[in-house]
Amino acid sequence: MDRIVTEGGIQLKGEVKISGAKNAALPILVSSLLTDGRSTYSNVPDLKDIDSIKLLLSTLGAEIDTGGDVVRIDAGGLNNYKAPYDLVRKMRASILVLGPLLARLKKARVSLPGGCAIGARPINLHLKGLADLGASIELKHGYVEARADKLKGAEIYLDLPTVTGTENLMMAAALAEGTTHIKNAACEPEIEALAHAMNGMGADIQGAGTSCIKINGVSSMNPASVSIIPDRIEAGTFMTAAALTGGDVRVSDCEPDHLGSVINKLRLAGAKIKINKKSIHVTGPDEIISVDIKTRTYPGFPTDMQAQFMVLMSVAKGVSTISETIFENRFIHISEIKRMGADITVSGNSAIVKGVPMLFGAPVMASDLRASASLILAGLAAKGKTEVNRIYHLDRGYESIEKKFKLLGAAIKRVSS
Ligand code: EPZ
Repeated sequence: MDRIVTEGGIQLKGEVKISGAKNAALPILVSSLLTDGRSTYSNVPDLKDIDSIKLLLSTLGAEIDTGGDVVRIDAGGLNNYKAPYDLVRKMRASILVLGPLLARLKKARVSLPGGCAIGARPINLHLKGLADLGASIELKHGYVEARADKLKGAEIYLDLPTVTGTENLMMAAALAEGTTHIKNAACEPEIEALAHAMNGMGADIQGAGTSCIKINGVSSMNPASVSIIPDRIEAGTFMTAAALTGGDVRVSDCEPDHLGSVINKLRLAGAKIKINKKSIHVTGPDEIISVDIKTRTYPGFPTDMQAQFMVLMSVAKGVSTISETIFENRFIHISEIKRMGADITVSGNSAIVKGVPMLFGAPVMASDLRASASLILAGLAAKGKTEVNRIYHLDRGYESIEKKFKLLGAAIKRVSS
């Protein structure tokens, strides 16, 4: 298994180009199933999760070809309604095929994704919404068995603004008979991006990006031709790294409008931030100031940035309280950062982070995607050598992260074993 080795203490300087957003690309590639034409997607990031979703879509009968950051998908040959456990377990977002399969093939047999390191991650709200649309849902031997002769528009009230739940239901409702309202919908930019892609295919979706989305079902949709939005979490990760190392970094090809809460907290932590149209210039402070955060749904502070920001707070002046309100087990990175000298105490869903003057390099173990990123950041700031193991987690969601950090002057390398 590969690992990443860093020598800390270098101030990052230069420009980093942000790739397409993993969490936008996944649902948008799946939405290609809603038409029997050939859709074209550009700015698709080169990630393990994207490889996984392409494998699943081809298993269902879609024809896929990839050239650089362009992916073409022709779902005209969609003929298999079964998404097997060995594919779904590798990537939970595979559950997104449920809605489109019901819409196109009127049936679906999709493995339950199961939990993951950060939590149980149930899909009860996905299933309730599909039942509201008229699907019959059964759980058998670890699979969701869903059928619907004709999906019909409905009023769907989500108990929680689930991101992939909103996406699944948008895709199912797009070809349903009549109008659907999704209330308490997720408002993330990736939802808006999916709606934009689907409306470009002939869907009729209004209100995406707000908590009430209206979908007027249409009889058929045409192929898409769309570019994937920039990855706001990748951008936030590099911005935090610039602040952490006292660096001077331009984060380009990003969407500043998607990063309001992260920019706000980094400024409170002392970073100087200049916002341009499609780039953000971050100058790290001489002294990092402790800041409290609570993770919230968009536009609140993103849970996917919690681990990275905790590393910044671990070497800040003062004490910060970091509360994780979205997932029940998203503090796994804390034990590893403490091995590097951080002073963090967990109490329920909050972590009390007492800033220390410095972290010290150590061998550490990645546990999930964003925890892995936080350990890379810790290694860039720590005195001495850090070795981050099990970085397959990282490759799921960050494109060539060590190459991008190296271009910013970091002493970082990937070691294959
Ligand atoms: C999406 O996951 C993202 N993944 C996650 O990014 C992100 O952390 C999360 O949204 C929150 O922003 C993708 O978009 C592929 P949720 P998702 O459904 O949709 C509970 C990353 O690092 N819930 O919004 O699975 C759930 O347990 C990943 O890129 C139910 O109870 O998240 C959680 O507590 C990690 N029942 C909360 O809602 C349901 O049916 C939010 O989950 C669905 C969700």
